[in-house]
Amino acid sequence: MKKIDKKDLISVKDLTIEEIYRILDLTKKLKKKNKKLLKNKTLGLIFEKPSTRTRVSFEIGIYQLGGIGLYLNRNDLQIGRGESVKDTAMTLSRYLDGIMIRAFSHSMVEELAQYATIPVINGLTDLLHPCQALSDFFTIVEYKKRLSNLKIGFIGDGNNVANSLIITAAKTGANITVASPEGYTVKDEIKSIGNDIAKKSGSRIEFTSDPAESAKNADVLYTDVWVSMGQEQEKSKRNEIFQKYQINSSLLKYAKDDVIVMHCLPAHRGEEITDEVIDGNYSVVFDQAENRLHTQKAIMALLMK
Ligand code: CP
Ligand code: NVA
Repeated sequence: MKKIDKKDLISVKDLTIEEIYRILDLTKKLKKKNKKLLKNKTLGLIFEKPSTRTRVSFEIGIYQLGGIGLYLNRNDLQIGRGESVKDTAMTLSRYLDGIMIRAFSHSMVEELAQYATIPVINGLTDLLHPCQALSDFFTIVEYKKRLSNLKIGFIGDGNNVANSLIITAAKTGANITVASPEGYTVKDEIKSIGNDIAKKSGSRIEFTSDPAESAKNADVLYTDVWVSMGQEQEKSKRNEIFQKYQINSSLLKYAKDDVIVMHCLPAHRGEEITDEVIDGNYSVVFDQAENRLHTQKAIMALLMK
């Protein structure tokens, strides 16, 4: 097995297209048959925010690969009392073979990776969620058998999940149309990263405020929560502003007949997605959630072996 020639996974932007496909290929193999590719290896899992899928998929994933995971809540670490990120990185590098971190600040994760001598995997920041996007593209290929000539309609907040989907679409040549309300659109920084990468792949990246335009002829419809972790104080304002940005059965009518509906989860049923759609025939959200396990294993194996 050829390792990925990078120390860390902080953004899909840093991966070559060949490396992305190497992750997707190994994911497929591990989903079919598990292999103990990381015998006796250790992964520290630092969490500043809650998690169901990311924690369980990495913790169980490393165990299934033959290693062991150690859950480290930020508040139980000295980092919670002011120890520097640099000293934490240098210390943990003496004990562990890899670190997965979920944090608020993206630059904190970059700093951790800078000083750690072991692989650092980004398990979500306020800016990006690369492991989610890689796993989601595995799910899309499972269902659609292709990434070119494929339209993803993303409806909702121009936040971490949308950002990583845009970058991964740009890398792989998939088309994506993001519909967000004014003031909640994807940052210019991500737009320009996406557009730059897309020049090479030919991917079409579009932004609109109209959910119907995003859903029109979509092969994939995707949404994320209106209120992300850390934004709880904006809840009532956001719930009002995002009203129109819901995947429901009337929006589904704009998409292709064989559309698949995706959501990174956790979902706020009745807000960004209706019960009818998330539980309906087009929804692949629980296959999508399962695939986090297989993809996270592939990522760990390719970085930590
Ligand atoms: N999709 C995702 O990352 O889920 P968790 O927040 O439960 O990890
Ligand atoms: N945008 C969401 C994604 C959760 C997986 C959040 O940051 O809370």
